[in-house]
Amino acid sequence: MDKDVFTHHRPLWKTHIGFLLAAIGSAIGLGNIWRFPYLCYKNGGGAFLIPYFTALLVVGIPLMILEIGLGHKMRGSAPASIASISKKWEWLGWWQVIFVMFGIVLYYSVVISWCINYFFYSFSTAWQDNPNTFFFQKFLIVSQGPFDLGNFRTPILFSLMGVWILNWVIVFGGVQKGLERANKVFMPLLFFLTAIIVFWSVRLPGAAQGIRVYLSPEFERLKDIRVWIDAFSQIFFTLSLAFGIMIAYASYLPKKSQIVRDAFTISFINCLFSVFAGFGVFSVLGYMAKSSAVEIKEVVSESIGLAFIVYPKAISTLPYLPQLFGVIFFATLVIAGLSSAISIVEAFTCAITDKFHYKREIVVSVLCVCGFLGSIIFTTQAGLYWLDIADHFLTQYGLVIAAICECIVIGWVFKARKLREHINHFSDWKLHRWWDLSIKIITPLILIGLLISSFIDEFSKPYGGYSSLALILIGRDWLIYALLFAVIIASYLWRIEPKERMLSH
Ligand code: PHE
Repeated sequence: MDKDVFTHHRPLWKTHIGFLLAAIGSAIGLGNIWRFPYLCYKNGGGAFLIPYFTALLVVGIPLMILEIGLGHKMRGSAPASIASISKKWEWLGWWQVIFVMFGIVLYYSVVISWCINYFFYSFSTAWQDNPNTFFFQKFLIVSQGPFDLGNFRTPILFSLMGVWILNWVIVFGGVQKGLERANKVFMPLLFFLTAIIVFWSVRLPGAAQGIRVYLSPEFERLKDIRVWIDAFSQIFFTLSLAFGIMIAYASYLPKKSQIVRDAFTISFINCLFSVFAGFGVFSVLGYMAKSSAVEIKEVVSESIGLAFIVYPKAISTLPYLPQLFGVIFFATLVIAGLSSAISIVEAFTCAITDKFHYKREIVVSVLCVCGFLGSIIFTTQAGLYWLDIADHFLTQYGLVIAAICECIVIGWVFKARKLREHINHFSDWKLHRWWDLSIKIITPLILIGLLISSFIDEFSKPYGGYSSLALILIGRDWLIYALLFAVIIASYLWRIEPKERMLSH
C-alpha cells in the first residue's frame, strides 16, 4: 500500500544521476561564470575563497541538507512542505517561490537572452574594437535612469521569447521527460564546453599572471564586512537555496535516498566548477593585460559587464579562431543559465499543482506566458538599471530573510532533530548534532548579522547611487508585493491536506 501511494501520486526521477544533474544544473548557472569571478576579483582575489568556502561549509551545506531532507520527507513543494509543518508559516514557502519566479527568473532570462545575442554576434565579432560602447550604446542603448524606459530592444525581446519557449518546452515535459532529459544533455555539454574554454584560456600568453592575481590573496580585504556579505549571499544564490527549488526537486526523490551525500556532492561540484571557471576568466584577463601592456586591474571593469565587455574585447584579439572561442563561451553561458531558469519555473509549477491540483501542462503554459510578459520590462532601455536594483534587493534581502525564516520553521517549529532523524534513517552518511546547532543557531545568527550590516550599508548610502524612489519602488516594494501575494495564496484552502503526502518510516 505504502509503495503504491508513493509511486502513483508523484512523479519520480527516473535515475539518481538524473536528480543530481538537475540539482547541479540549477546550482551551476550564470552566477558561477558571470558573477563568481567578478566577486572574487572585487573582493581580494584568492582571499575571497576563504569567506566563500567558510560560507559553503557553515551555512551552504547544512541548508542544502535541510532543503533536500525536507522535500524528501514532506514530498511536496516549498509551500506544501512548510504547510505540513505549520499552516501559519505557509506564506513563507509561497514568498520564496513567488519572488524567485516573479523576480529573479524574470531578469535572469533576460541575461540569458543577452548571451544568445552575443552568441550570434561572436560569429562576426560584431562589437569590433569597442565592446564597451557596443554593449551600452548599441546593444542595450541604456537610457538616462530607471524611469526613463525608452523603447524595447527588439533583438533582446526576440531572444527572450526564445528563452521562454525553451523554458516552456522543457518544464512542460515533466520531471522525467523534461527536466531530467534536458539536464542529461545540458550538464555533460556544459562541462565539456567549459573545459575547452578553460584549457584554451590558460594557454594564452599572460595567463599565468592572471591566475596569480586570481589566487594571490589580499588578506586585508577580509576585514571588510562587504566581502563576507558578498560571500554568503553568493553561496545562497549559487546553490539555489532559499528559493524552494531544492525542496521541489527533492520531493521527486524515491524513498531510498542518500540525502547527505547528495547535498555534499551537489554543493561541492557547484563550487569547484566556479573556481575552475575562474581560471578561465583570470587567464583571459592576464592575456588582455599582457597584450595591451597594462596592469590587470586596468583591464577589468568593475561592472556587470565582465562577460559582455571584457570577454568580447579579449575575444577580438585572440591569436587564433576568435569567433569559435566567442561562440563556445556564450553557448556555455546560455546552457548554464537555462538549466537554472527551468528549475525556478519548476519550483513554482510544483507549488501550484500541489495546492490547487490544476493540470501541470496548463500551469506551466500560463506561467511561461506570465514570465515572458514580466521579463519585458528588463528589455527596455532602462532594463539594466532595473536588473541591477531588483537583483540587489532580491538576493541581499529576500534571500537572506527567507533563509532565516526557513531555519526558524524547520529548526524550532518542526525541530531540527526530527528532520535529522528522518534523514539519518535513509542516509549512509549520518548527521550529528552539530547539524541541529547549525540550523537552529549558527546559520540564523550569521544571517541576522549579515542582514543588519546590509541594512546599515543601505541606509548609509543609497545602493548604486540610484534615487531613493527607484530603490523603493523597484527594490523594496517588489519584495513586499511578493509577500502580500504569498499571504493571499496561503489563505486558500488545501484540496488535499499537505500532511497526507508526508513520508513516514
Ligand atoms: N544558482 C544559479 C546561479 O548561480 C542561479 C539561480 C538562482 C538559480 C536562483 C536558480 C534560482 O547562477
